[in-house]
Amino acid sequence: MHPEPTPVYLDCDTGIDDALALGHLLASPRADLVGVGCVHGNIDVDAAVENTRRLVTLAGRGDIPVAPGASAPLVGEFAGGAPHVHGVDGIGGVRESLPSPTAVPVDGDAVDLLLRLSREHVGELQLLAIGPLTNLAHALDRDPGLVDRVAGVTVMGGAARVPGNVHPVAEANIWHDPEAAQVVVAAPWPVTLVPLDTTMEHTLDERHRQRLCDSASAYARACGEMLDRYLDFYGEVVLGRRAAALHDPLAAAVMLGEVNRVRSPRVPVEVDCSRGPGRGQTICDLRSQRRLVGDVDGANVRVVLETAPGYVDLLLDLLEQV
Ligand code: BDR
Ligand code: CA
Repeated sequence: MHPEPTPVYLDCDTGIDDALALGHLLASPRADLVGVGCVHGNIDVDAAVENTRRLVTLAGRGDIPVAPGASAPLVGEFAGGAPHVHGVDGIGGVRESLPSPTAVPVDGDAVDLLLRLSREHVGELQLLAIGPLTNLAHALDRDPGLVDRVAGVTVMGGAARVPGNVHPVAEANIWHDPEAAQVVVAAPWPVTLVPLDTTMEHTLDERHRQRLCDSASAYARACGEMLDRYLDFYGEVVLGRRAAALHDPLAAAVMLGEVNRVRSPRVPVEVDCSRGPGRGQTICDLRSQRRLVGDVDGANVRVVLETAPGYVDLLLDLLEQV
């Protein structure tokens, strides 16, 4: 007997790996995607909404509410996105080939949607944040009682023991809104941080991409096409070989318990919100781990340092089922 699927609210800045995570959630029997909020990040928020609505329509799930959220971080302006990573449209140039959205736009913004869903699924809703954390910070500000109504919060973000990706010590989602990230990790709710430490260890290469391009699923084929651009960037700038990290989809798999967490202690975490070179760093206090004590009393952030290998095969299987 399969357990009941978990209701999931997704918060994303729909770029290429966000599209993979969305596909994972749409296909996984463990997830019931009940709403999506969009945020600035890889692209401006309106483009993130358009990308997301087209992708859910392509998947035949135009019924899933997609709401616009924050267009800028808590402090400062939208940073201009990452066209060099995700393409000018955020999804590797495939947007115009995707179907126009069919559903009527939802009333209200991402915070309204998240708060409504948290009341409809009290104690059950899982939040998956795979972009900057601005919407979640606004939601906590508007209704601090949110912390008692959700089952958990999983964030793709940060770097605990490895270099950052947009700055020496900062990972992109945290870097784009450190103040919001600090609000989220400091709130009294259970947070699981899925940082670069583990997301960089799960990669997809040209052979995997070809399998997606040859798939019977239109969603998988669209992913295969957009990944061409992502593999170029990772090959040239990040890894030196044509393979790309599965940041956002891995966070979905961790949240749903589809990938084993090999090492993930609960430890104190703070986000550097200074203006210095450490801005955006997730400072994870791992001193206790020298003694291998595991969880630290009172800490509410679980930092996933290591996961079991093999996730890419599960992801491909799921994308082919969308
Ligand atoms: C994160 O930054 C974005 O570019 C990706 O979509 C992912 O959420 C990785 O650092
Ligand atoms: Ca993302």
